Amino acid sequence: PAAFKNVFALAAFILVPIWGCLQETIYQCICGYSGADGEISFEYHRYEELRKALVSVWLQCPTITRIYTIGESFEGRELLVLEMSDNPGTHEPGEPEFKYIANMHGNEAVGRELLIYLAQYLCNQYQQGNETIIDLIHNTRIHLMPSMNPDGFEKAASQPGEIKDWFVGRSNAQGVDLNRNFPDLDRIIYINEREGGANNHLLQNMKKAVDENTKLAPETKAVIHWIMDIPFVLSANLHGGDVVANYPYDETRTGSTHEYSASPDDVVFKSLAKSYSMYNPVMSDPHRPPCRKNDDDSSFKDGITNGGAWYSVPGGMQDFNYLSSNCFEITLELSCDKFPSEDTLKTYWEQNRNSLVNYIEQVHRGVKGFVRDLQGNPVSNATISVEGIDHDITTAKDGDYWRLLAPGNYKVAASAPGYLTVIKKVAVPYTPATRVDFELESLMERKEEEREELMDWWKMMSETLNF
Ligand SMILES: *[C@@H]1O[C@H](CO)[C@@H](O)[C@H](O)[C@H]1NC(C)=O
Ligand SMILES: *[C@@H]1O[C@H](CO)[C@@H](O)[C@H](O)[C@H]1NC(C)=O
Ligand SMILES: [Zn+2]
Repeated sequence: PAAFKNVFALAAFILVPIWGCLQETIYQCICGYSGADGEISFEYHRYEELRKALVSVWLQCPTITRIYTIGESFEGRELLVLEMSDNPGTHEPGEPEFKYIANMHGNEAVGRELLIYLAQYLCNQYQQGNETIIDLIHNTRIHLMPSMNPDGFEKAASQPGEIKDWFVGRSNAQGVDLNRNFPDLDRIIYINEREGGANNHLLQNMKKAVDENTKLAPETKAVIHWIMDIPFVLSANLHGGDVVANYPYDETRTGSTHEYSASPDDVVFKSLAKSYSMYNPVMSDPHRPPCRKNDDDSSFKDGITNGGAWYSVPGGMQDFNYLSSNCFEITLELSCDKFPSEDTLKTYWEQNRNSLVNYIEQVHRGVKGFVRDLQGNPVSNATISVEGIDHDITTAKDGDYWRLLAPGNYKVAASAPGYLTVIKKVAVPYTPATRVDFELESLMERKEEEREELMDWWKMMSETLNF
């Protein structure tokens, strides 16, 4: 029934704007929403306009896009996602998945608009034959969620006048701050670091507990399922109120307000955060004055900061991604004003366009490949570990995996219950990802081999000794 409901909701959602379209000329219909000739519409999009903008991208680029919803907000608005890929709707074995998610704080509006413009830009550039964008879309499955908190946005946007309150619309309609609402897996990992225990996928086999948890907002639950169902590799969460790229951990180990809180992948995360900030002239400007006179930006360097060093955030989405899945997420603060005036949106797009594209390309770094058994069957849920980094990742359904790494030489191991572990030495350049496949021999096959070897030896001995 849930599936049916979704199909109907989606059908209505797509057909209503098309019906609206048919009453105009077809040309206006297809080009009108995003502006004729692939122009980008630099304006705020309320909920209905957001839907129309996504539909218009889909109409313009139907072969490389798909619209889907991961659930509903508390007030019943769809949590819409636009997917861009050469095979929309399917995970292609070996192709990494990427997501951008914005407007989790409903009053932080710039990221929401940038993702709409990004969708329009990627579609336009693809059609115009831009090789960089064509390669990106052919080799990556990209998911864009412009608003995780559509209710909050409507509340923030309904305030009269240009200047919006600093807090109105931040939370969801139940008053829940969604970036404090995720299961606090940092507390578990900090215990496991000391006492031993899993270093990844900490919510394994706990989906039911998530569904039954009444403290989780519907938006949070929907995103948790999304994170756990799709083999995302890389992600960013777009916020506003400052200008910096923030990386894990967000929550400090001791609980103190400011404390550098390195994750096992500190080197990788710094590199990822910089890959965003360096392409944004404002974010990377060492002489940029703080957004407000009393802001504490002392932990910012090169436009990046460790989350805990800035201020501790328990229950955030960024650390949740890293600790519950294979997905590496950073948090991007894109503007001093959370809800700036409409005429500044074009400037924000120009500041962030190259960063947004370049950051997606980071998904093609490190090592990637397949884990199979000796018969060539995929081994899913195998563990990929890197010597010296206490955070493993796992293979997806087709035995495919992606392990983001900074340039260097590594020892990478693939293991799975019932198989012999295989270790390989790998040199990793900045980009592209090095392909490393693993063939795992099962313990049963090994035993069989040993038995055969013994039999051969016995046969040889008996022939030689003639008995
Ligand atoms: C193609 O896209 C890239 C990435 O956004 C951009 O830097 C480049 O200028 C585009 N090329 C053209 C010809 O527009
Ligand atoms: C994946 O593997 C881990 C450890 O090998 C195991 O604990 C977990 O139950 C497995 N998950 C699934 C879905 O099979
Ligand atoms: Zn925020």
